[in-house]
Amino acid sequence: MTDGTSGSESNVYVLEESTGERQLLFEKINNFSEHFLSTLNSQKAFQNNTHKDKEDDLFFLIDENKTTIDQILEFYQDRVLNTGLNPASGGHLGYIPGGGIYSAALGDYLAAVTNRYAGIFYASPGAVRMEDALIDWTAKLIGYKEGYGGNLTSGGSMANLIALHTAKHHKGVDNTNVDKGVIYCSSQTHHSIQKALKVIGLETSIVREISLDPQFKISLDALKLQIEKDTEEGLVPFLLIANGGSTDVGAVDPLLELSSIAKEFDLWYHVDAAYGGYFMLTALGKDKLKGLELADSVILDPHKGLFMPYGLGMVLVKNVKHLMAAHTYKANYMRDAMTESQLSPADLSPELSKHFRGLRMWLPLKLYGEQVFGDYLDEKLYLAYYLYQQLISIGYKVLCEPDLSVVVFRLEIKGHESDVLNKFVLDYIKNDGRIFISSTILDNKLTLRAAILSFRTHKEEIDLLLLLLKRIKAHLDI
Ligand SMILES: Cc1ncc(COP(=O)(O)O)c(C=O)c1O
Repeated sequence: MTDGTSGSESNVYVLEESTGERQLLFEKINNFSEHFLSTLNSQKAFQNNTHKDKEDDLFFLIDENKTTIDQILEFYQDRVLNTGLNPASGGHLGYIPGGGIYSAALGDYLAAVTNRYAGIFYASPGAVRMEDALIDWTAKLIGYKEGYGGNLTSGGSMANLIALHTAKHHKGVDNTNVDKGVIYCSSQTHHSIQKALKVIGLETSIVREISLDPQFKISLDALKLQIEKDTEEGLVPFLLIANGGSTDVGAVDPLLELSSIAKEFDLWYHVDAAYGGYFMLTALGKDKLKGLELADSVILDPHKGLFMPYGLGMVLVKNVKHLMAAHTYKANYMRDAMTESQLSPADLSPELSKHFRGLRMWLPLKLYGEQVFGDYLDEKLYLAYYLYQQLISIGYKVLCEPDLSVVVFRLEIKGHESDVLNKFVLDYIKNDGRIFISSTILDNKLTLRAAILSFRTHKEEIDLLLLLLKRIKAHLDI
């Protein structure tokens, strides 16, 4: 190199764009986002083309070539946004819808640009205090008083993992006794719990799926009988898992009664409130979730009930010492960061370096205040009840009154095989694309479900779903 710089050295300022270059990039991304948001109403909730094959598949691949931002955005529109599910749409009523409020995206943007490190108090006291404030706010909301702790996670699955690892650690379950340990849950337990049990080495413990009552809630009598039987047989019951809003039907288990059983048999009591937890911001939710405050650990998903973009869960543990004991490690290279007085997120979870997730949640809550979120959730409860009533009136079978905002239903017509019929309904709605619902199996039959949680779902979307369902029924009834 004649000028004294190597070829690669001449590249080392490229990633620090000039102000003009930054503004240009930002303007393009901003224009694209604005176009996306302003045309959402005319976009489909689902495009049945997940296996779209095109010659430009190679564009996904990374190599030495440079690409313009215009080409990148065009590709993003075509190959990402124009395929599959559109979770930003108010027509998304499948699974458990996530949110995606714009102000949270701006919080993420700010967090990423300033790149604050929210893992250790010493490194970023302000960021950790902000995350602590969110944990504090949520813990108070569910009724924890003091001595609790928590962590912002990437989602409900990681939050369940942290809670269950804490339970295992506190209960002293290890290689010597894991086979005799018994865990109680129901068939409505989310599969992230099973995954977590596998990851934390509880795969060989005995898992009892307790039967359900007609409302799809864990049966208290069956649970008690099973614990007594297991104890008599020399097994060691140690963990009880309840639903604070199940995924399939949104059912809330009898939390108060379950806490008494957990106390009587000395079980760690975990409530998965990933879907339902933030309904505590509503009067109905508070009533349904009575007893949540008695759990040893609770998880909630702000990317569900607080309408955040995907990537935000929360675990809360009633006694922070248990959470800490299960996760704190020391290392020489971390010695400067050790403070006796202040816990860091890294002391309370498996993560060290982590995304500063708090800002995306803190910013919208500060901008709009908590009441707005409660009002939105109240609207979802109202819409679910409205859908429930309307479905009955147009002749669909609804399996149970919604506890929160999930409605499960089937079309049943004499002479038609139920699963075939309901698959037809599901496919019809999927192919129309304006509304997206999903299905499950309840009572051994294919069952349709509408989960109303997107902040963009309003009465118009529910009326459109009803219109489609009426149309199908009219077509088939003849
Ligand atoms: C009740 C329940 N628990 C846990 C999870 C897992 O959460 P995540 O998808 O955020 O990992 C879900 C997801 O829908 C859920 O509904």
